[in-house]
Amino acid sequence: MTTVRKVEQLVTGMPATDGAGVELVRVIGQPRLMELDPFLLLDAFRSDNPDDYIAGFPSHPHRGFETVTYLLNGRMRHQDNAGNDGVIEPGGIQWMTAGRGIVHSEMPEQEDGMLEGFQLWINLPASHKMTEPGYQEHSAAGIPVESRPGTVIRVITGETSQGTKGPVNQPLTAPIYLDVTLEANTEFSETLPESHNAFVYVIKGSLSLDSNKLTRDQLAVLGSGDFLKLDSGDEGARFLLIAGKPLGEPVQRAGPFVMNTREELQQAYADYQSGQF
Ligand code: FE2
Repeated sequence: MTTVRKVEQLVTGMPATDGAGVELVRVIGQPRLMELDPFLLLDAFRSDNPDDYIAGFPSHPHRGFETVTYLLNGRMRHQDNAGNDGVIEPGGIQWMTAGRGIVHSEMPEQEDGMLEGFQLWINLPASHKMTEPGYQEHSAAGIPVESRPGTVIRVITGETSQGTKGPVNQPLTAPIYLDVTLEANTEFSETLPESHNAFVYVIKGSLSLDSNKLTRDQLAVLGSGDFLKLDSGDEGARFLLIAGKPLGEPVQRAGPFVMNTREELQQAYADYQSGQF
């Protein structure tokens, strides 16, 4: 027996500024949706005005979670103090496990044109917050594409019901990250693990889901169940379908650090300031 997931909450992304002055839309990590365990933050950036993005995200630390950057348009360079250096191009991803501490920069590798993409923060359990930092990147060619009638699915992580598997494996939160494009008036359905929290975020076009209409920059938090069913509107749609296993642990966050207790946050600042990252 399947249980179709309903819409539990609808959230619209709100304008925010981060880094050295990058204009973006904060979808998770804002007052109406501070987190959706294990997801701590979702930012969308989309601009063809260099003033909105050129300042980038100069050198800054992270501890206690993972950052996932997915780019649709433009080029972005990542560099970190573990020696990783790479340029992400359209359709590519960077998956960074900050673990016990990493210092990185994320800067646009372009001076004009469109920059469009997303950054998602995924929490790590207490047992792995102080793990060794890790970094992997996959270009568009390394992201499997599944085709169904009127439907194209890019599988960044997790496995679809038809067996297409993304290149990133993270058993701690078992994330599913799909980029789905639907032609006009197309039905989409997919099984989702009952254990996972899940959401749909509309990149463009419109969707109808559980008798709600969702448009660009809207996110639907899905209720419990094991099945998702939705339809695109007359102009088609592109959306992210993201799900992960909740950790159910206390979350204490401050800026670039996400830990379980306030003491651990203070320790993170002390360790960073004393150059231990
Ligand atoms: Fe960062």
